[in-house]
Amino acid sequence: MKTIALISQKGGAGKSTLARQFSVLAGEEGPSWIIDRDPQQTSARWHERRQDGDTPPEQPGLIDLGGTTLTAAVAALKAQPGTLFIDTRPAVTEPEAEAARLADLALVPVRPSLDDLEAIGATLDMLRRVKTRTIIIINAAKNERRAIEARAALSVHTAAVCPHHLADRAVYLDATVAGLGVGELRGAAAVAADAELRRVWTWIMKEAAE
Ligand SMILES: Nc1ncnc2c1ncn2[C@@H]1O[C@H](COP(=O)(O)OP(=O)(O)O)[C@@H](O)[C@H]1O
Ligand SMILES: [Mg+2]
Repeated sequence: MKTIALISQKGGAGKSTLARQFSVLAGEEGPSWIIDRDPQQTSARWHERRQDGDTPPEQPGLIDLGGTTLTAAVAALKAQPGTLFIDTRPAVTEPEAEAARLADLALVPVRPSLDDLEAIGATLDMLRRVKTRTIIIINAAKNERRAIEARAALSVHTAAVCPHHLADRAVYLDATVAGLGVGELRGAAAVAADAELRRVWTWIMKEAAE
């Protein structure tokens, strides 16, 4: 099993959105799971809504830690095929470091605003300390130019930056409300979001395999 942690000190960067959307895509290839380590439980509630229909999608599964630790839960799944996503709080203290240490890969979503780009340093410092391979993903860019400028600003960091970004699209909010992946929604906006997500996900998987 591959373990991917979503990490960023900044709230609203897109950790939960990416954990949910990528877990749906990974679920097309094999088993996928989410562990929601944020007390706000946004991913867990999305998963709950996902179970509402007559035929709830099989993937991803949601793992409730119950009495066990994250370390024990990851160890129990390690031998199985599939992908585990660990969604975390907007923080970079010990619980997030634990998630990052257990992960094969840390994904750091960042919005292309000056404040968010400047704040990414603390997140990257923690990930460097725990030596987890890191990929930064520019999320919710209002246009291409902002994504390009953000990529230039991020080039001072040693972490890899995904060459594809995710645009600011209301359909990500629709998917959140519906408990779905954007590709499971209808309409042109959903098709465009699904295409960009797949571009990012494919790049991440290729990069992680190297
Ligand atoms: N690419 C995007 N386009 C539009 N809205 C987005 C996008 N990514 C995230 N959002 C919205 O921004 C808010 C914060 O995203 P979220 O994934 O919850 O961030 P985090 O988990 O890092 O705090 C949510 O309302 C989410 O739906
Ligand atoms: Mg979140």
